[in-house]
Order: sequence, then structure tokens, then C-alpha cells
Amino acid sequence: MRINPSILSADFSNMALELESIREADMVHVDVMDSHFVPNLTFGLPVVNAWKKVSPLPFDVHLMISDPDTWAPRYAETSEMVTFHVESAKDPRRIIEKIKTLGKKVGIAIKPNTPLDPYIELLPDLDQLLVMTVEPGFGGQKFMIEMLPKIRRAREVIDADNPSCFLQVDGGVNSETIVLAAEAGADTFVAGSAVFDGVNPSAALQKLRSSLAG
Ligand code: DX5
Ligand code: ZN
Repeated sequence: MRINPSILSADFSNMALELESIREADMVHVDVMDSHFVPNLTFGLPVVNAWKKVSPLPFDVHLMISDPDTWAPRYAETSEMVTFHVESAKDPRRIIEKIKTLGKKVGIAIKPNTPLDPYIELLPDLDQLLVMTVEPGFGGQKFMIEMLPKIRRAREVIDADNPSCFLQVDGGVNSETIVLAAEAGADTFVAGSAVFDGVNPSAALQKLRSSLAG
């Protein structure tokens, strides 16, 4: 079970300290938004590379952008794992291949209304499948309970086709919903507001882990 805090809810003016506060996490989830694929704008490659230099943890980059074919390999030059949305990818196989050539991990993400089945054929080549549990674009939204069947289906196909692939959920994960997602088969959890909205990110992370330990 992996927990990757999303720095979307962190204090961007204090990133070295924020990253230090979650050093017990597995990876740092980095939400790149371009205000085209989603109606929000966050940060781009120079900022991610700057944060990378002060991070004690590997980066799990989540690209919510219109042109992953161009940009995903660029992020993989510095970050350990890059996940892109299939909805905007022109040639997902080519992106996967390029990132693997760089020796990095690669994932695909699907939005709540995107069916899983058309993408199952990509699974054998993936390190991560991200099932969104909110509409991408903003932190602090409510976990979509209706995504649980999709998570269960994803667990089945991963077990059958590529058991080492991470099954990540992202959006509305807190100490209650993390249990539901884990029961449905997720093994990698992104949490933004649940980790960074309080005063103590490290304690919040610990709380999520103990919920999982149940
Ligand atoms: C939403 C992002 C998430 C976001 C999660 O589009 O992909 O990673 O930071 O935030 P919470 O955990 O607050 O839902
Ligand atoms: Zn994300």
C-alpha cells in the first residue's frame, strides 16, 4: 500500500519545508494542469524541476494537459514516474514507449466518465493505472463512490494481465474513503487536502496509514 500526498494543496511558497514534512510518504504526487485539458492552471516543467531538486522523495507526476505526446517524455527526463490522461493522448503507445526508454515508470489516467475496457490492452506495458475518483482539476472535492465498481474491475484486469502494475486512486481520499478504495482493490492512494489542509501533514499521513492498517 502506497500513499502519495498531492502537493496541489501544499504551500507553493514554502515547498522545501512542505516536501520535508511528508518524507515518510512513498512518492510525491505532482499535479500539472494546463487550463485546457482541465479548467485550472498549476505549474509546468521548470517549477517541477526546481522542486525535484529539494525533494527527499521520488516524483509521481500526474499530467492533466492537452498535449501529453509532447510533454510526458520531458517530465520523465527528471521525474521517476509520469502518468498521462488517455483522453488527450494522440498515441498512448508511443508515449509509454518513450518514457520506458528513459528508464522511468509510466501510467495512464482515466477520468470518471471514461470507460476502462478500451485501454485494457495497454496494461501489460504499464507501471500504473490511475482511476480518478473526482473530475480532475481541483483539490478538495468529494470522493465519487460510484467509481468503486471501476476500481474493482481494474483490480481484476490488473491481477490477470500485469499484477505488478500500481492501481492508483486520486480525488477525495480521506481516512474513510481510503478504506473503501482499498477494499475495492486500489493499492496506491493520492491525498491532497487530507494531508496538507491541517497543521501537521506528517500526522495526517500517519492517520491515513493507520486507517489502511485498519
Ligand atoms: C485533482 C488532482 C488531485 C488533487 C487531489 O484533479 O488530480 O491529485 O490534488 O486533491 P484531494 O485529495 O484534496 O481531493
Ligand atoms: Zn492528481
